[in-house]
Amino acid sequence: MFSLSKLAILPVLFALVIADFPLDFDETFLQLEREDSDTVYRLPEDLDPIHYDIEVTPYFEATANKDAFTFDGEVTIYVRATKNGINSLIVQENVREIISVTLTDKAGTPIAVNASNPFERLRQYHFLKVNLQDGVTLENGSVYKLTIVYLGNINETPLSRGVFRGSYRGNDGRLHWYAATHLQPTNSRQAFPSFDEPGFKSTFNITINRPAHFTTSFSNMRIAETIPMGDRVKEIFNTTPRMSAYLVTFHISEEFTVIAENNDTARSYRILARPNAQGQGAYALEVGPPLTLWLSEYLGIDYYAMGEDMKNDQIATPDWASGATENWGLVSYREVRLLYEEGETNVLDKKSVATITAHELAHKWFGNLVTCRWWNNVWINEGFASYFEYFAMNGVDPSMELEDQFNVFYLQSALSTDASASTRALQHTVNSPAQVTGHFSGISYTKGASLLQMLKHFVTENTFRKALNYFLVDRSYEHAFPSDLYNSFARAVAEDSVLDSGVNITEFMRYWVEERGYPVLNVDVDMNTGLITLNQERFFISASAEPTNQVWPLPLTFTTGNNPNWNNLRPSHVMNNKTYQIQKEAGHEWVIFNVQQKGIYRVNYDVHSWEMLASALKQNRESIHHLNRAQIVDDIFALMRSERMTYRLGFQVLEFLKSETNFFVWYPAISGFTWLRNRFLHLPDTLDDFDAILLEYLEAVINELKYDVKADEPLTTTLNRLYVLAFACNIGHEGCVNDAIEKYKALTNNGVSVNPNLRRHVFCEGVRDGDYAAWRFLYQRRINSNNQADQVVMLRALGCTKNEQAIKEFLEMVLSDDVKAQDRLNALTFLYAGDRNNAKVALQFIKERIEDIRKAVVLPTWFQSVLSNLASYLDEEGLQDMEAWLRANQSNIPEFQTGLNAIASARANMQWGTDRADMILKAARGSAVTVLPTVMLLLTTSIAIMIR
Ligand SMILES: *[C@@H]1O[C@H](CO)[C@@H](O)[C@H](O)[C@H]1NC(C)=O
Ligand SMILES: *[C@@H]1O[C@H](CO)[C@@H](O)[C@H](O)[C@H]1NC(C)=O
Ligand SMILES: *[C@@H]1O[C@H](CO)[C@@H](O)[C@H](O)[C@H]1NC(C)=O
Ligand SMILES: *[C@@H]1O[C@H](CO)[C@@H](O)[C@H](O)[C@H]1NC(C)=O
Ligand SMILES: *[C@@H]1O[C@H](CO)[C@@H](O)[C@H](O)[C@H]1NC(C)=O
Repeated sequence: MFSLSKLAILPVLFALVIADFPLDFDETFLQLEREDSDTVYRLPEDLDPIHYDIEVTPYFEATANKDAFTFDGEVTIYVRATKNGINSLIVQENVREIISVTLTDKAGTPIAVNASNPFERLRQYHFLKVNLQDGVTLENGSVYKLTIVYLGNINETPLSRGVFRGSYRGNDGRLHWYAATHLQPTNSRQAFPSFDEPGFKSTFNITINRPAHFTTSFSNMRIAETIPMGDRVKEIFNTTPRMSAYLVTFHISEEFTVIAENNDTARSYRILARPNAQGQGAYALEVGPPLTLWLSEYLGIDYYAMGEDMKNDQIATPDWASGATENWGLVSYREVRLLYEEGETNVLDKKSVATITAHELAHKWFGNLVTCRWWNNVWINEGFASYFEYFAMNGVDPSMELEDQFNVFYLQSALSTDASASTRALQHTVNSPAQVTGHFSGISYTKGASLLQMLKHFVTENTFRKALNYFLVDRSYEHAFPSDLYNSFARAVAEDSVLDSGVNITEFMRYWVEERGYPVLNVDVDMNTGLITLNQERFFISASAEPTNQVWPLPLTFTTGNNPNWNNLRPSHVMNNKTYQIQKEAGHEWVIFNVQQKGIYRVNYDVHSWEMLASALKQNRESIHHLNRAQIVDDIFALMRSERMTYRLGFQVLEFLKSETNFFVWYPAISGFTWLRNRFLHLPDTLDDFDAILLEYLEAVINELKYDVKADEPLTTTLNRLYVLAFACNIGHEGCVNDAIEKYKALTNNGVSVNPNLRRHVFCEGVRDGDYAAWRFLYQRRINSNNQADQVVMLRALGCTKNEQAIKEFLEMVLSDDVKAQDRLNALTFLYAGDRNNAKVALQFIKERIEDIRKAVVLPTWFQSVLSNLASYLDEEGLQDMEAWLRANQSNIPEFQTGLNAIASARANMQWGTDRADMILKAARGSAVTVLPTVMLLLTTSIAIMIR
């Protein structure tokens, strides 16, 4: 129906300078059981679902013969047989009840089914199997209509996905209900029997029979026809583009409405929300239309030409399991990811509105128009969306510095996740729904996006862009394998002759997609000859991991101290060997590999090169690009941890942080310092000493940032202050704490508003310092708040209390409707993170209320996380208590093994700290002393060279 000829292929007119990216994904930390890698969860491929007609009648209240929160459903799937001899049909369903199943040919003539056993439900696999009469088979190429009448559930929370209900308090003080859908990745089957795999594509006609007193419902497309039917209104929506079933959506509510729109019928863009969020949609509307245009032009396919009468709605949903989901024509966001209120929402949440909008809009090309064949390659959807999350938004608003932010939020995150021995490759076999959901995790987003960035610099942006366009045009409205992507790159690379003939781009990409992990590049410079000897090996964060024989095709960039060039990001060499040599000019100088850290690898240098870098950084840190300073910091923490570098040498280099003020450098520094500090929490003396050292490190950056937000400062300065002060206050920085307490008192006593970008630490310190009344103030402020972002900030701060009554009320609150199901797991963690002693109180509570907690967090994996997060904050006394409880209750806590594993790793972390405390303290303290001689040495040497 939507042929390719309808697409406007825009000419590639201009070479865009690109920027960077980030995104929000599910916070589920899945601990997957190892499931057999058989394929029983997959559908046979003997039928092609061409089209669906879906009709839904929801019940929000019980009636004589209907339960509340159920719906009547009827689906007709038009299927084409793709082979002869088919005697049974299998579709996926996970609905409440199947009422009837009928099969006809295209003209409506019934096909005979097995009279005694017309259909069976294979519940474990979510299969519905329709049995034809003996001897009856479908004809290859013919179209049939499979009609299923069924009952569905409107689930209690969004965490169950499928069709679910949510609520919010309206201005009238009453709770208002709505039903929404979250069908990605394997939950269409809860909404309607379907071919619930991304590789099957169909068009959809959706009809909703909503209660007459509800407002107009929303779906992927505009409403074609409205028919009043007594106490219901039938709403028939236009046909969707050809797409995967997980992209279907509808939203049925009493009063959701348009809160912002661009009033452009041809290129419509609207923000939908509960009516009392009026006024919070302006920023989403400010970024959305330019993003749509930017992506349309960059990718050479216009969004509004992807289907007939396309709309581009974004809906803010108070209850949502993830950050956002890319339903075509109606993207759904958790409210905090779409709504923004000046003066109330902080820049971190504001940035997420922009970048997540970019992410979801990018999915319209990568995910919706072209879809990964199967979820083993979900990175083809999520990696691209994550890449454009930063780079498309950077194109729209360069002042956000998102190209640079990509490094710390995505690339360094990929380097961290992918360093464990148990990491998975981008392409990774998955079968069951749990495995599928698990693959929607870090690597698919962060490493996928980082690979694209590396490729862009490798083949140049023009060729990169051309390859993406070839891929999209070639596979529009179809599914794609990675080979389709490789072929598009091979074609573009060949046409543009951008690579050495020795490089095979297909093999290059395959290696990065199919291999686990990434390399560390060991660099050894001969200062006399200028010969650089390189060696690569898989980087493991664990020092005891077995080395592997992997050899990555590694695009190399480097620059040198005597002639630094930070702007040439085009790799000069591709390292295809375990070892490799590069001859540079002779000269006593530092080298830096991975310029601006665009490649997926860490770098370790010989000791003398590190010392030269330490000196250069200490003398004039600005002589090294801020992204390479950030790289050095992030790499050093990882290299020290993996025992590839001594702490003495590492801290010698890190010394420059004492005068550093740059956000990009401090971000990895804070996470590195926090990681170390967390291993000393059980050693009060060590902790005091370490904190004293950290306070020295923080002095310059705090002096620069100060305690208040300045008008018109860059976004990254505000971000820097947000993170630095939260860290500084938490380790007891006196200036930070006093300023925070003062601001909190001004708020509670005189109603002086706190700048949203300071609230994280101000609220926390105010509550930590204050009594029950100070806590209760914030509790009440949160209940009265109409801003979900601010509510989450307050929820976090409420956990900072040390007051016993407050802790009890906090725990009760987590189980009540005052905390949405999606926030409950985080809320518990906020309490332990707020004050470590709170974990012990929480343990007693969890012991008493385990079944209530299990129910409140809904998902079994979330309950497992409750246990493991708790263990990670307990001291040895608490761990013993928890262990005894788990061992005594194995029969009613099936997850006890998860808890025991978490206890073991908490103990291992403490032991790690105990074993290294003295050595690390000495290194951290001693750095100032050791650098001096090196500087002298360097100066002498340079003089010698100049004289020569
Ligand atoms: C129905 O299926 C059963 C086996 O499941 C078979 O024995 C029987 O012959 C079938 N009946 C018809 C009418 O096809
Ligand atoms: C789907 O809806 C369109 C109108 O939007 C209609 O023209 C078409 O016939 C419908 N398709 C089916 C199979 O009912
Ligand atoms: C669209 O129209 C509405 C109603 O007239 C108006 O309030 C709103 O400001 C308009 N939006 C834009 C972006 O012009
Ligand atoms: C690149 O490698 C692939 C897979 O090994 C091979 O099929 C293809 O022919 C190679 N391309 C070129 C240009 O050599
Ligand atoms: C890579 O290693 C092979 C043998 O292991 C050698 O023949 C080749 O010259 C090396 N290439 C480079 C560029 O070092």
